Amino acid sequence: VKPVLIDAFCCAGGATKGYQRAGFYVVGVDHRPQPRYCGDEFHQTGALEFLAGKGMSEAVAIHASPPCQASSSLRRLNPGKVYVNLIPETRAALEASGLPYVIENVVGSELRDPAKLCGSAFGLPLRRHRLFETNWPLMVPRCQHGVERPRFPVGRGSPTRTSADRSCVSYVYGSTRYKGDLADRKAAMDIDWMTNAELTQAIPPAYTELIGHQLMAVVLADKATAA
Ligand SMILES: C[S@@+](CC[C@H](N)C(=O)[O-])C[C@H]1O[C@@H](n2cnc3c(N)ncnc32)[C@H](O)[C@@H]1O
Repeated sequence: VKPVLIDAFCCAGGATKGYQRAGFYVVGVDHRPQPRYCGDEFHQTGALEFLAGKGMSEAVAIHASPPCQASSSLRRLNPGKVYVNLIPETRAALEASGLPYVIENVVGSELRDPAKLCGSAFGLPLRRHRLFETNWPLMVPRCQHGVERPRFPVGRGSPTRTSADRSCVSYVYGSTRYKGDLADRKAAMDIDWMTNAELTQAIPPAYTELIGHQLMAVVLADKATAA
């Protein structure tokens, strides 16, 4: 039987996929329907309500990706608008559970002593920084921006590419702002089941696969101590 991990605010499951690869049975929670969710079980409900309820009895660990508009670039574009920040309430719920947890968010969010992950640290042609707060010791590989080679020639606008270039197109390299087409971006994220809108919200499964293996060790050690 696989240990149960809750993925709160799961969307279509970028984070979920990595935890599945690390050996967890993943239960996703999102208040919107998620017809393409890739996890083992899905509950359409408020994440904070779920974390406070009966559905938690089987869980051994929790991941949460609360909405990040409060600290993302949207805020800079619309300075007058009020955006939600569910991080404090989410953290309180996770602490109350007594379980090992992971909170993921964007750079600039108010996570406590977070670790930072980037696609470049995994050899993915992708620069996407995300922060991870944990209540257990997490070790992460360094961002490789400083040493990686540009994936295509630097120039103005979209570079001209042949089909042979497809496998190595990235989000932003050098001074070009070209981000690749949908197929390129899916390949860069290692995600093939999402729409473009879902992809923009997702983290690459590689991030949570790395975290998931370390979290599994914590879960198994807790179990051995309790036995
Ligand atoms: C940034 S996305 C998560 C992306 C996901 N971690 C991934 O890697 O694919 C945040 C999700 O939180 C959901 N959401 C926002 N507020 C919520 C709430 N109160 N309860 C449950 N889900 C919520 C949104 O519908 C959205 O799908």
